[in-house]
Amino acid sequence: MNVLVTGGAGFIGSAYVRHRLRTHPEFKVRVLDKLTYAGRRENLRSLPEERLELVVADVADRDAVRAALEGCDAIVNFAAETHVDRSIEAPGEFIETDVFGTFILLEAARDAGVRHLQISTDEVYGSIEDGSFDESSRLDPSSPYSASKAGADLLVGAFRRTYDTDALIARASNNYGPRQYPEKLIPLCVLNALAGDPLPVYGDGMQVRNWLWVDDFAAAIDTVLEYGDAGEVYNVGGPDELPNIEVVKRILELTGRDESLIEHVTDRLGHDRRYSLSAAKTEALGWRAAVGFDGGIERTVEWYRENEWWWKPIRSGEYREHYEQRYGSALG
Ligand code: NAD
Ligand code: DAU
Repeated sequence: MNVLVTGGAGFIGSAYVRHRLRTHPEFKVRVLDKLTYAGRRENLRSLPEERLELVVADVADRDAVRAALEGCDAIVNFAAETHVDRSIEAPGEFIETDVFGTFILLEAARDAGVRHLQISTDEVYGSIEDGSFDESSRLDPSSPYSASKAGADLLVGAFRRTYDTDALIARASNNYGPRQYPEKLIPLCVLNALAGDPLPVYGDGMQVRNWLWVDDFAAAIDTVLEYGDAGEVYNVGGPDELPNIEVVKRILELTGRDESLIEHVTDRLGHDRRYSLSAAKTEALGWRAAVGFDGGIERTVEWYRENEWWWKPIRSGEYREHYEQRYGSALG
């Protein structure tokens, strides 16, 4: 399969492109990406140019999407506005990209007769106190971001039932690893710790997230793309659940900083307390997570330490404004 990867210049999309090109040397990848603040050409650096093409366009642009789909056998859709805090401040773009953009892609996939794999999130299920969500759990999103993702998932189901589109969904828990934009907890805290800046922890820091190494998710996506059944949902949960405060303390240890850098700040509105996904259905297709949190977080800190060229321009640009507006303090 030649694959159209929408949002392929972002954090997970680019990890998937890397994985796909490495594991399928006979096929090509075309990335369609708007290159928002989160999408970067640098994320696709050092990949075989003869098998990779980047089209800079919006997933909500019907003509651009149809043109980009020519010669492709499937769409894997990562394109989205992805940061919960930004969705609380300004939800409009989340509806435009995550919901309307998915609709444009579904129409194009239906008309071209190709598979559409929608990349979704555990956040569509909302928060869970005990146990884990499976694929039959009720959708109960809390934020404008997760509601937009749930809206897209419902469209995927509707296209499958109404038009018999070959569409399916992979829902993942929190990914971490190289090239994640530093608005998200782990890269934000790694970069702040390296710089000796405070690490902002929302509320009591006892919110639990289910961490998934990004390359493990990339492998799961290929498994679902190749072996998943049309119309089905596949949950891809990581192997480890940790309260945020433990994640932050682990980062401080790995960067040689002490806990005085921890700063408890105002909690996120509508903050989900715990996410947990059962990956049993995806595992039944033959996928297994290979990297646990202890090893993964060490590799992540190491990557940021060694790749200042990647994050230095981010810390001095749009991100600085976002940070100062959000946290009310300056980066060092
Ligand atoms: P990201 O913010 O790093 O990347 C998003 C990418 O989409 C960027 O390259 C951006 O330029 C592109 N994009 C945004 N709007 C676009 C538009 N209108 N048209 C074309 N491209 C556009 O996000 P990520 O963390 O890599 O997440 C990728 C996907 O995975 C998203 O759909 C997200 O909901 C989902 N997801 C993420 C996680 C996670 O932990 N990061 C977990 C589960 C699911
Ligand atoms: O669960 C999957 C989701 O994971 C994806 O669908 C989203 O696209 C992705 O952004 C991520 O959402 P979260 O809200 O869980 O990730 P974030 O890194 O923003 O926050 C992780 C936890 O850390 C959350 O409980 C909020 C908390 N947090 C976050 C930031 C940015 C802090 O305590 N301090 C912070 O400064």
